Amino acid sequence: MYRRTFLAGLSGLAVAGPVAAQMKHDMGGMSGGHGQHAMPATDANPVLPEGQPLKALPRLSNRSAVPGLFQAELVAEPGVVRFAEGLDTPVLLYNGSTPVIEANEGDKIEIRFRNGIPGEPTTIHWHGMPVPADQDGNPTDPVASGSERLYAFNLPEGSAAPYWFHPHPHGLTAEQVYRGLAGIFLVKPKDDPIPPEYGDTILLLSDLRIAADGTMPESTMADLMNGRVGDHVLVNGQKNPAMAVGLGEKRRLRLFNATNARFLRLRFENASVTVVGTDGGLIEAPVAVDELLLTPAERVELIVSFDKPGAARLTTLDYERGWMGPDKPAEAGMVLLTANVADQAVAAIPPLPARLRAIETLGNPVVTRRFVLTESMGGMDHGDMAMNGMDHSGMSMSSSGMDMRFLINGASFDMNRVDEVSRVGQVELWEIVNEADMDHPFHVHGTQFQITEHEKDGNISPPAYRAWKDTVNVAAGETVRILLRQDLPGPRMYHCHILEHEQLGMMGTVDVQA
Ligand code: C2O
Ligand code: CU
Ligand code: CU
Repeated sequence: MYRRTFLAGLSGLAVAGPVAAQMKHDMGGMSGGHGQHAMPATDANPVLPEGQPLKALPRLSNRSAVPGLFQAELVAEPGVVRFAEGLDTPVLLYNGSTPVIEANEGDKIEIRFRNGIPGEPTTIHWHGMPVPADQDGNPTDPVASGSERLYAFNLPEGSAAPYWFHPHPHGLTAEQVYRGLAGIFLVKPKDDPIPPEYGDTILLLSDLRIAADGTMPESTMADLMNGRVGDHVLVNGQKNPAMAVGLGEKRRLRLFNATNARFLRLRFENASVTVVGTDGGLIEAPVAVDELLLTPAERVELIVSFDKPGAARLTTLDYERGWMGPDKPAEAGMVLLTANVADQAVAAIPPLPARLRAIETLGNPVVTRRFVLTESMGGMDHGDMAMNGMDHSGMSMSSSGMDMRFLINGASFDMNRVDEVSRVGQVELWEIVNEADMDHPFHVHGTQFQITEHEKDGNISPPAYRAWKDTVNVAAGETVRILLRQDLPGPRMYHCHILEHEQLGMMGTVDVQA
């Protein structure tokens, strides 16, 4: 069986290719060391303070006085954050923080960007946003260390949604994101059906691993295979922060999974939860849920009703996402946020409207494309090692190590290759077939799509509600079908949003022709 081959081959391997430079030969996590991952000394792990008041992420202020024009500057540069008492953690930040850009449908956006990261290219990718391909921070458009560029685009009508932005440089995305680079891009609609009394709270979820000295350890082999999972899931950079709410209050919470690889199966204990929006904005009508899965890069908008006094906690449940190797991190039982609900009931607040907006169907597809996700090692997949030979140049197990790759239709990402050719305005059916042993959250740049069905073991199920999405989890052994249309020309990436998988090849390019 493939999984066995894959794992057996790992003892004593190094990783070749661009990621080799960023990882030391820390094989502890693969050979069964204790702890959640491959850090050598887990007993000295720093303790992060909990229960402090939830902080709002800083807003990026608009330098323009012209109505409908948003102008600002962003700088990516090194910084230091104090996550644990007395420990400095070197990180990368945008303008010294994790900023929120808030703009309106119809606005013109001009962001002057400077790369202040020593010795590394970067880009800003506007995740999920309908921006022109040459403004979208593709790996083919790097901003060299020390240089600047302008990102300019318009926000079309109907684009209101909780987007985010992050770096996308070739071979460095995973590392720059776990080191801290991310921001929120909130596009507000002209008319918002959610009552303003509910507030609007951004909860950016990140995943931190720090060593005893406060620094972030380099990624291990286990991190590259499974995606880097940290020790502390943080909300707006804080561990289990607290918010105070009145009894009977409703709050609008926007959750962003900005982790490299954390699958978050979430539940709000002692409160009732209604989904009102997804990656691409509001859904048609509120949907009550007991729990939800938020995979890397996904967003969800919730209305949480705090109808019982006491502590209401946002916690995690176990989720089987196909962990490879030992040291599967504990997924269940994390407390991400605590709402302290007062005993005193608040005055009546307006109810949530029964209809939020209309989402049109995309219509019949004129093209069907199929994307098969697989995992491979040394250019061989599904165990055909003998055929390819172990002494092939660059693939020897003893010297330069083997390639570990995550593939789409058998191919590893190549910036100079176009995998698919599409047309502006054309409705397409994409079939994403996961033949790998792990779940892979699949993301498409430049547009929002609609899921039409999930298929597993011959059972076909439609999604629970119609929604705009830019990232969808495709579970191991599952096929997900989506309808999509690109309205702007140019090359667009599609990839697994476990960023280590994207980096190890699970990405392709569709060239959208005018
Ligand atoms: Cu968040 Cu290529 O994407
Ligand atoms: Cu994206
Ligand atoms: Cu993946």
